[in-house]
Amino acid sequence: MADVDGETLQVSGQPAGESRSSAGAGTAPQSASAYLNPSYWDERFAEEEHYEWLKDYSHFRHLVRRHVRPFHSVLEVGCGSSRLSEALLEDGVSDITSCDISEVAVEMMRKRLQGKGLKGIKVLVADMLSLPFDDDCFDIVIEKGTMDVLFVDSGDPWNPRLETVDKVKAMLEGVHRVLKPNGTFISISFGQPHFRRRFFEDPELTWSFEYETFGEEFHYFFYVLKKGQRASDETNRDSGEEFIPPPIQYLHEELEDEDFIFRTSVDELNA
Ligand SMILES: C[S@@+](CC[C@H](N)C(=O)[O-])C[C@H]1O[C@@H](n2cnc3c(N)ncnc32)[C@H](O)[C@@H]1O
Repeated sequence: MADVDGETLQVSGQPAGESRSSAGAGTAPQSASAYLNPSYWDERFAEEEHYEWLKDYSHFRHLVRRHVRPFHSVLEVGCGSSRLSEALLEDGVSDITSCDISEVAVEMMRKRLQGKGLKGIKVLVADMLSLPFDDDCFDIVIEKGTMDVLFVDSGDPWNPRLETVDKVKAMLEGVHRVLKPNGTFISISFGQPHFRRRFFEDPELTWSFEYETFGEEFHYFFYVLKKGQRASDETNRDSGEEFIPPPIQYLHEELEDEDFIFRTSVDELNA
């Protein structure tokens, strides 16, 4: 843990148990805010062939398959060097677009797919804060660990900095815009519902809000937001059951050696 700006922070890393191959040594940045800098990602991906943030597809496939059908058009935001798009392709989804702000990640992803003879996945450079797609054009938008990047320098998670709020709003409004009516946004995240919900339930956005968790001891969040389906009295499917965050001890031990920085109020976790 480290103390920054009076906040007690959880300094942790790649969420547990991920696979990587040909990873560059020393990929962790000096400070969390580097994750907001595209050149950090370019440098990292130049050395890193594969790194799977949070968990790989096998851990949440059962959840994806509830919402994604082979005929769906899918946009993956912030693909990095993940094999999520390949896994979706293997599961029969043929219309996949993956994007990332890192030109290096995009180029490496293209080469990898080409090397494997995989066709059908379009890969392009795009900023999630200004998605270069028409309105209403995807059935599914999916991201894993990408929105989390916007929170690395958010300050107090209960009262994030205005700049963080603006960026998250810009991202979500863009995702909402490119989704078809009744399309679904799937956000796979480390961020806990009590910190994410206020963003997902912005009055400008029409989607419903629900989530599941996955993972063994440590829980990751699988948010599902269905455009045009917000009910005024909406409650989470787990409502009635108070969300109990994992014990801080576990978080600390499990994530301490990893290279991603999650900012979490320890007081809140211990509450
Ligand atoms: C934590 S990594 C997650 C990568 C991948 N989704 C995974 O699960 O392994 C965050 C990714 O978001 C990308 N990224 C960061 N800022 C972005 C932005 N503004 N627009 C699009 N992608 C961005 C990074 O280049 C990086 O690939």
